[in-house]
Amino acid sequence: MTDMAAFIEGLPKAELHLHIEGSLEPELLFAIAARNGVELPYASVDELRAAYAFGNLQDFLEIYYRGLSVLRAARDFYDLTWAYLERARAEAVLHAEIFFDPQAHTSRGVAFSTVIAGITSALEDGRAKLGIGSKLILCFLRDRSAESALATLEEALPHKDRIVAVGLDSAERGHPPSKFEAVFARARAEGFLTVAHAGEEGPPAYVAEALDLLRVARIDHGIRALEDRALTARLARDAVPLTVCPLSNLKLRVVDDMAAHPLKVMLDAGLHVTVNSDDPAYFGGYVNANYRAVQAALGLGRDDLARLARNSFEAAFLDGGEKRALIAQLDAYLAER
Ligand code: ADE
Ligand code: ZN
Repeated sequence: MTDMAAFIEGLPKAELHLHIEGSLEPELLFAIAARNGVELPYASVDELRAAYAFGNLQDFLEIYYRGLSVLRAARDFYDLTWAYLERARAEAVLHAEIFFDPQAHTSRGVAFSTVIAGITSALEDGRAKLGIGSKLILCFLRDRSAESALATLEEALPHKDRIVAVGLDSAERGHPPSKFEAVFARARAEGFLTVAHAGEEGPPAYVAEALDLLRVARIDHGIRALEDRALTARLARDAVPLTVCPLSNLKLRVVDDMAAHPLKVMLDAGLHVTVNSDDPAYFGGYVNANYRAVQAALGLGRDDLARLARNSFEAAFLDGGEKRALIAQLDAYLAER
């Protein structure tokens, strides 16, 4: 292991962009399919993994939705979440803010309460047994209707104390934030914070819409914002956190190769970027693999890596005291390295 890889391995960090369904590793997918009596169109784990080659976001989403359809019982959601938390723990993730896609489950007949029960009991165990803090973010599938999103929000209300924010994911192009303006207004009125995937495949205008119309506290991805200088200046001035996912961008061909990834340009432009894994079971690595990939390809130094970790705590949906306690752990690590 290089010195930089060792530094990254122990670097205290938060993960703020992780789809729990995107952490379903092929081995667990097969095991859950077997116990639920689900037939898979793949003969083996290796054959499934071989199908993970994507030309764009849509190619990925088709495989992702097929994969998550093995999840049926609360225990499945528990096992999925627990497996992620164990990985996170091994990678010095002190705090994780986790997306879930309820419509991808309720539309298959799995109750919202089943999904929430499995995920939240694993998060409670993660806190008690692994010492990992966490928050849950409900994502609406933007390629479905605003009515479906609103119905999902209604289903979430009895579980409001377990969900910190609502977000927007799935196929971006042709599904602008404006489509969900009323749903997000209602969510804010109910006390939820808001985030949105924007500027992943979609244009910079979607990033501006997410800020202006959805009043988001963070932008997920946001890398195409760089195409608009005034927008980039606004994001820097207003210190809007961006949850960037380098291996995802590479695997979904949002960037041609890692050396062309704009993360360093974003850091140098004063943007509040963080590094995250998105769908690690599909994109070739968890959060530390993302840190290592950008470090190596962009020549990031210790100070850049420490800045990314600090940004991750500052951008978390935690109160000032909680953030200070986590940042103190980061500072202690930096002081002894
Ligand atoms: N759902 C899961 N991962 C996603 C991504 N990277 N973009 C949009 N929707 C997603
Ligand atoms: Zn994502």
